[in-house]
Amino acid sequence: MATLHKYDAVVVGAGGAGLWASFELARAGVNCAVITKLYPTRSHTGTAQGGIAAALGNMEEDHPEWHMYDTVKGGDYLVDQDAAEILADEAVVTVIELEHLGLPFDRTPDGKIEQRRFGGHSKPDPNNPGKRIPVMRSCKSSDRTGHMILQTLYQQNVKHNTTFFNEFQVLDLIIQDGECRGCVAIEIATGEIHIFHAKAVILATGGFGKIFKVTSNAHSLTGDLVALAWRRGIPLEDMEFFQFHPTGVYEKGILISEAARGEGGILFNAHGERFMERHAPSMKELAPRDMISRYIFEEVRAGNGVGPHKDAVWLDVRPETINHYKSAPGGRHVTAHQLEASLPDILEFVRLYEGLEPMKEMFLIQPTAHYAMGGIPTDLNGRVINDEKNSVVKGLYAAGECACVSVHGANRLGTNSLIDILVFGRRSGLDAERYIKEAAWSDISPKADEFAISQIEGLKNANGKESVADIRKKMQATMDKQVGVFRNGQDMKAAIGTINDLREAYQEISIMDKGSRFNTDLLEALELGYLLDLAYVTATSALNRTESRGGHAREDFPIRDDVNWLKHTLAYKSNGGVEFKYKPVTITKYQPEERNY
Ligand code: FUM
Repeated sequence: MATLHKYDAVVVGAGGAGLWASFELARAGVNCAVITKLYPTRSHTGTAQGGIAAALGNMEEDHPEWHMYDTVKGGDYLVDQDAAEILADEAVVTVIELEHLGLPFDRTPDGKIEQRRFGGHSKPDPNNPGKRIPVMRSCKSSDRTGHMILQTLYQQNVKHNTTFFNEFQVLDLIIQDGECRGCVAIEIATGEIHIFHAKAVILATGGFGKIFKVTSNAHSLTGDLVALAWRRGIPLEDMEFFQFHPTGVYEKGILISEAARGEGGILFNAHGERFMERHAPSMKELAPRDMISRYIFEEVRAGNGVGPHKDAVWLDVRPETINHYKSAPGGRHVTAHQLEASLPDILEFVRLYEGLEPMKEMFLIQPTAHYAMGGIPTDLNGRVINDEKNSVVKGLYAAGECACVSVHGANRLGTNSLIDILVFGRRSGLDAERYIKEAAWSDISPKADEFAISQIEGLKNANGKESVADIRKKMQATMDKQVGVFRNGQDMKAAIGTINDLREAYQEISIMDKGSRFNTDLLEALELGYLLDLAYVTATSALNRTESRGGHAREDFPIRDDVNWLKHTLAYKSNGGVEFKYKPVTITKYQPEERNY
């Protein structure tokens, strides 16, 4: 017998997007609960290191309009420009509010929020008309910015009496007559089923990088609610665009923040060549991520790679190198002490995972699967959209990486994720507050938990021969190899075939733990089901888009094709497969141009 709860609003996920949405609701006096499969301050926002973008202009001239332009160009013109304008404008007030809420930002000597450079964030080059050079736009708390955001927003939620259901895994959305009326969850500690009846549900569950093997994403990033939404008939937008961050720890994928390059770090190939000078003469190591990841792969393919398998490049953050190349902001001289203060976690990661001293040696890096640009389609207020005509699912919201608003288009700029989650998390909370006041309560079916229970029982009672771990390993290896930085039709068709086989094998799994308490065996099996669906939609969407744009680089279609593909993809679940529909990109200020950096 399930336990029944009734809240005006339920937020699923307790990263930055969820915590700002719930904070907004709770401070308005809305009866609000947050459900999270982790403890809130362990959410993945905490791994966002380098900073949060806002054109404060504290270090040098900067404007929200420049931020908007960079976001649109960085996203290879697939960005909805109304969303980018909101992001850039509201970034400024959002960061200032965070400061007032207590976030310990780094400071300039005169007490302002200190900012640093990040990839793709630019200003006009005063010495080269028509060219752009890096601008200091990333507000930061050394390299622990995301962690500080979590602490700050969690404290605000506690202060405003948000109710937390920690270590609860959502198993189903209750959608009846086109309206979301709550969700069903399992309490991980006990195995008990809980029904949450709500007027509004806000999904803020993050990404699904675990479809890949080499990823910066934590084990929890399995896209549960993205897959559940898709299974419930909601299309997924622009799933072909997955970002590979250029600098992951070699073979492990752990993030080495772009802040390392923002502070002056340089990439070298096997010949000691600073190859980014050749590829992006103005922005160099601070070109957008999609480009740098491709150039790293090209260096490796050209035989210029380093490491045991010659499949990596060097990242050099030694002060003498930075000073020799004058690559720190403004060409200033840097000391080891200053770098330790700006990049404490990053330098420790290198010591820990690469076993060397980054102040004395270069270290190996490799692109790592980092961020899903696609996800659950929403409007500018986080309302989930159900079709190409922008019809909304009443009472259902999504924000942050699980959503696609679409403010990142085909490629996200670094530090735009933290600002996206807060700006659109807040907008979702505010709109939900308005909606809750207007909407009447609707009944939920007495069988609302039927599907969730049958799924759990089905998995516990299954006695197939297939192993969850083996299927996951094969899926991740397939995605790494055949749906990675560079893609082609033949490989992707093969990947889809393999993933389909794995989806069939998934029907034949069994789990060892048949118990109720902390059954992580069961949870991993559930998560694998979600990952398989999302790997399938990602690969199928990638095969469908016959052009190259942003993070989607096809060797068989190497050119961006604005005539046929300046449009968003909506991937619907259909008879076990995928059906594609399209919707136009919102273009307000900036017509598509060639992307040069
Ligand atoms: O490189 C980084 O610090 C990552 C930031 C981001 O993905 O926005």
